[in-house]
Amino acid sequence: MRHQVPPLQDPTLLINQAWIDGSFVNSDKTFQVYDPASGGLVGSCPELTPTEVELAINTANRAFASFRTTTGRSRASILRQWHVQILRHADDLATIITWESGKALCDARAEVTYAASYVEWFAEEASRIYGVVIPSSHPGKRIHTIRQPVGVCALITPWNFPAAMVTRKIAPALASGCTVVLKAAAETPFTANALVQLAHRAGVPSGVLNVVTAMDNTVAIGELLSTHKMVKKLSLTGSTAVGKLLTLQSATTLKKLSMELGGNSPFIVFDDCKSLADATTAAIAAKFRGGGQTCVAVNRLFVQAGVYDQFVEQFTAKVNGLQVGGGFESGCEIGPVISPQSVERMEARVQDAIAKGSVLETGGARLPHLGENFFQPTVLSKMTQHMDLFREEIFGPVACIYPFSTEEEVIAHANDTEVGLAGYLFSSDIDRIHRVTDALEVGMIGVNTGIISDAAAPFGGSQGVRLWARRVYARD
Ligand code: SIN
Repeated sequence: MRHQVPPLQDPTLLINQAWIDGSFVNSDKTFQVYDPASGGLVGSCPELTPTEVELAINTANRAFASFRTTTGRSRASILRQWHVQILRHADDLATIITWESGKALCDARAEVTYAASYVEWFAEEASRIYGVVIPSSHPGKRIHTIRQPVGVCALITPWNFPAAMVTRKIAPALASGCTVVLKAAAETPFTANALVQLAHRAGVPSGVLNVVTAMDNTVAIGELLSTHKMVKKLSLTGSTAVGKLLTLQSATTLKKLSMELGGNSPFIVFDDCKSLADATTAAIAAKFRGGGQTCVAVNRLFVQAGVYDQFVEQFTAKVNGLQVGGGFESGCEIGPVISPQSVERMEARVQDAIAKGSVLETGGARLPHLGENFFQPTVLSKMTQHMDLFREEIFGPVACIYPFSTEEEVIAHANDTEVGLAGYLFSSDIDRIHRVTDALEVGMIGVNTGIISDAAAPFGGSQGVRLWARRVYARD
């Protein structure tokens, strides 16, 4: 059976309600969540109204009064319990992730481990929220700084990482003594609900962590969360357009903001890279993790002239070996994309590239026998900056390979974009590695690796976080 969903070991983790003040909550209306692979119904969740969400904000605000006084040690202990719960229920969480997001079960399992790592990391941080003592400019005085929880945090998470973005935001908030209203993506509320239920079992007090669900009311809820005076911090992982809107709206109450928005990641392979086999394997990981639907996914592969043909050949052979199917199928590596609109967008962009002279090395078509959300893993070579795919985030299994000749040329092309989240480069020349990592206008850079995500590292783009978020991975 192609799209059969395995039964949950703990069926109580499939929760079709919101969670406010330690209780399950319904609303007059519901919205439906569908399996992107089969089109079948996963379930329904409450379509909360802004008025109902305001109750969650009030609750979180009330809970803050006592939660802020708890010790870092006690919050660490709760987070450690949550970490244990997540790992104990890893199989069920992975099943729910694949069911509602469509991603291959191998990716979903990796995501659960990744999600748990944030909880573990911030459990370790909770006891070490140090201030500093600073010598004063004036005699007889000493300056102490302390770190205080900011208050109610509104956290808005995306569908492409239904677990890891939830824990990446909730865990640091709880570790610092903040309380939370989480708005989970309308496509994937069930993973968030399961995680929050596990947090409750781990001992997170009532009112401290609240989850609101909605689809049609999402914009109105975003407006409420970004303008409500009790919300002191807002964090979004989502599109640049939504990030700009929420930033504007938040200005009225001067909230603290953390935005992780769109990407257009370059992946640069220089002639002097030590191993083309390693570079192509890393490019596959950086491009096709989550079926290409990650914000750090490679959007533009730049390959220098001396290794271009070999790279295209080896990379395409690896892409041809990727197994596409329903996420639960054994051996599946690439599942469906999230929606038919995503398929339409990819198809149109691929056609645009071909019409403007790109070469279709493999793929390029829908896979209707699998379902309406399936698209072949695709490789386009001889790409140029005049094609739509140069500027647009693909968010799907389409790899675009651009030839280049010089270091200066590739830096100019890589930076010729309005968004700068991640970048990657393969080279064995340490001087070049330093030059290029300094020149790339992105927040995070992988050197000789295609995977940069790690709870231990800051995560963010070049707008505002560049100095502290820059990090480099060198393999040997
Ligand atoms: C994202 O795609 O939003 C996050 C990717 C990651 O954490 O690796």
